[in-house]
Amino acid sequence: MSVLVTGGAGYIGSHTVIELLEEGKEVVIVDNFSNSNPIVLDRIREITNEDFKFYKVDTTNSDELEVVFKENNIDSIIHFAAYKAVGESVAKPLEYYTNNIGNTLNILNLMRKYNVKNFVFSSSATVYGDPHSCPIFENFPLSATNPYGATKLMIEDMLRDICKDNDSLNIAILRYFNPIGAHISGLIGEEPNGIPNNLMPYITKVAVGKLKELSVFGGDYNTHDGTGVRDYIHVVDLARGHIKALEKLNTNCGLVTYNLGTGNGYSVLDLIKAFSEACGKEIPYKIVDRRPGDIAMCYASTSNANKELGWKAEFGIKEMCEDSWRWQSNNPDGYTTAYIDEVTSVAE
Ligand code: UFG
Repeated sequence: MSVLVTGGAGYIGSHTVIELLEEGKEVVIVDNFSNSNPIVLDRIREITNEDFKFYKVDTTNSDELEVVFKENNIDSIIHFAAYKAVGESVAKPLEYYTNNIGNTLNILNLMRKYNVKNFVFSSSATVYGDPHSCPIFENFPLSATNPYGATKLMIEDMLRDICKDNDSLNIAILRYFNPIGAHISGLIGEEPNGIPNNLMPYITKVAVGKLKELSVFGGDYNTHDGTGVRDYIHVVDLARGHIKALEKLNTNCGLVTYNLGTGNGYSVLDLIKAFSEACGKEIPYKIVDRRPGDIAMCYASTSNANKELGWKAEFGIKEMCEDSWRWQSNNPDGYTTAYIDEVTSVAE
């Protein structure tokens, strides 16, 4: 029996595949490399010494995706494949709805056809909109403030509906807070397309000399130092949460929903300080206007995941920064140079 991982070459997907392989699972990855690099697959093999099946398939193409279901004995699916940039989703809403909703419908229909019962969905803390208080519990009101968030919320609603209709399904909705960090090997990590939108990849690019200075979006929030507070979680802890979620689904639990965060809030300035200590360099920054759509504060209550999954984030902010820096400093151009270097060395 295999676990199908859509978007398995992506940032969170690749770290999760490593944890699955280390648990001895058979893994089938589907990815179209729309926001990832084929070299990731070799890196996963290098880290784990294990192999997996891979299909270069766009999950919006139901016919191609069906081949994967036909050729493999899939018992569980972890669905990461999605567009994920908030700002881009405002500029390209139709692309976001088509990709994120369309591919999920394909997968759910194929799940039904091939009698797959277990499904883990990559949701996001964005479904809480602007929460009335922190920590955020899973039963807080849900809302979407941009098309990206709307796709996550719509899919959650779809999953709740299909579970009502079919009590043999087991579905885990995992709401991620802010994943940062990288695998300790320094071989895989986050590589955004173009100029990063998110804080950590921006900081690492400044530290490695690719960008001049960080703009801190807003210094007048109602937080301990005026800058936005988030719940940063190490991507390896997040990945391990998926293993625990699969174990939970095997108990025939029906639909479950968990926050995956640490429960701790750090401001932008806190993160800059922790990162400077990890890399031994000052990170030049200036405080600018708030970014439209940002909220002041967002951190999780993780008590449900702690109790019901037996999962707890283990890494602190120091390890998150050290691992992000190891990845970025070993791969200053992300996977691109690595790929060219490796091709060149093969040619030599
Ligand atoms: N920030 C800066 N400068 C930057 C980038 C970010 O000051 O260049 C600040 C933001 O204003 C915010 C904090 O850093 O206070 C974190 O911002 P990110 O863009 O890294 O993350 P967000 O919390 O805005 O968004 C992330 C994901 C979304 C997800 C959301 C869920 O990117 O996909 O968490 O809470 F929906």
